[in-house]
Amino acid sequence: MHRYDAGTEEIAQLCFDYSIARLRMDPVPLDGPLTLAELEARAGKTITREGRPPEDVMALFAEVLAPACVSNDSPKMLAFIPGAPTKASQLFDVVVSASAIYGGSWMEGSGAVYAENQALRWVADLAGLPDAAGGCFVSGGSAGNLSALVAARETAARRRSDRPARWRVAIGDQAHSSLENTIRILDALPLVVPTGDDDRLDGADLRAALDADPDPTSVFAVVGTGGTTNSGQIDDLEGIASIARERGLWFHVDGAYGLAALAAPSVHDRFRGVEHADSLVVDPHKWLFAPYDCAALLYRDPELARLAHTQHAAYLDAIEVRDEWNPSDYAYHLTRRARGLPFWFSLAVHGTDAYTAAIERTLGIAQDAARRIDASPHLELVRNPELTVVLWRRPGWSTDQYTTWSRQLLVDQRAFAMPTTWRGETVARAVFLNPECPPEIVDDVIASMQ
Ligand SMILES: Cc1ncc(COP(=O)(O)O)c(C=O)c1O
Repeated sequence: MHRYDAGTEEIAQLCFDYSIARLRMDPVPLDGPLTLAELEARAGKTITREGRPPEDVMALFAEVLAPACVSNDSPKMLAFIPGAPTKASQLFDVVVSASAIYGGSWMEGSGAVYAENQALRWVADLAGLPDAAGGCFVSGGSAGNLSALVAARETAARRRSDRPARWRVAIGDQAHSSLENTIRILDALPLVVPTGDDDRLDGADLRAALDADPDPTSVFAVVGTGGTTNSGQIDDLEGIASIARERGLWFHVDGAYGLAALAAPSVHDRFRGVEHADSLVVDPHKWLFAPYDCAALLYRDPELARLAHTQHAAYLDAIEVRDEWNPSDYAYHLTRRARGLPFWFSLAVHGTDAYTAAIERTLGIAQDAARRIDASPHLELVRNPELTVVLWRRPGWSTDQYTTWSRQLLVDQRAFAMPTTWRGETVARAVFLNPECPPEIVDDVIASMQ
């Protein structure tokens, strides 16, 4: 099992042949889920005591298991938040797997950490964070939000003598579900600030909520969203930042989806205020074209995160005393895959201009989709997209009709788009992250609602 012998050679051929064939697919099939009963019937019990011939197991994956997974890189994938990894990043993911790198500490992974930190620096520069900023790659926006708010609460607890019975975090009502989760895990409470029809948390609303609150000093942090998940709007980061500064609150920006657009000059200004963030998260596995799972977590003052996250033990002390930069110090983790490397490789190979061009292109695709929907007599655009989430309605349709439409669209492999609830109303939603999404896909979605 651990020697590179003839059997391994055969497995290598199978895996590389499959990977290359998958990477060459054009178009990538959308595919979709099977039921448990269907999978049991087709795949059965896959693990045995004796093992099975690798070609049989690979065939099972290629013919049954893989097609039972939606291809998030298909340009027809418009549901949730899709992905669109570059081929270079996907291929380098294979290299990372083959390299058995421990990415938690400088001592064990200095080369990888060095490269990852340059990719993080590119993001920090886009956001306008100071030279001292730094962080690490974590598994996703949820892990990033949790780690950042742990650092925020530890900082507040250290600095303040008046500890409240329950700490609180101010968030807009459009904040991602992971924030409610994070706040619950921290045994804190949310101060949910309502947003208006533009779905945007603005400074004035935050100020009003804090002023009206009977216990504002229990709030230790405020989260602004740089691209809400449901409708793609950007909070008033500047207004939120100034209130955070005025009241000594930690300012976290959840840009898991949208902060990628900092690389796009056409919309960069809409994120004004992000440069004041104490921490931010942006997911390369979303709109920075990296494979799962990869989120960039950055702190203005990484020392505050280090104080919160460094693990102490006899067997770790040697690391603590001598190392340059240990990613394990900056989030809730110890062992970690060097998951920033596929993103780094693709950035290094293609250059950052190619990223800017691809993100601008995606913004254009979303604008074009919105125009096509708006021009369709049977549909109504909810509003012009600020980033790449498009919401629209089919007047007269019930929630059931939206659900049936969405399911059928996937069954027919025309696209995967889902309804959502916007201001209490069921509407259709599509998220464009793939710079190769042709207008015909949007036209087909429009036709499917006739
Ligand atoms: C704004 C925002 N924050 C956080 C998350 C959670 O990210 P992840 O799914 O990578 O944990 C998402 C996911 O869509 C998101 O859109």
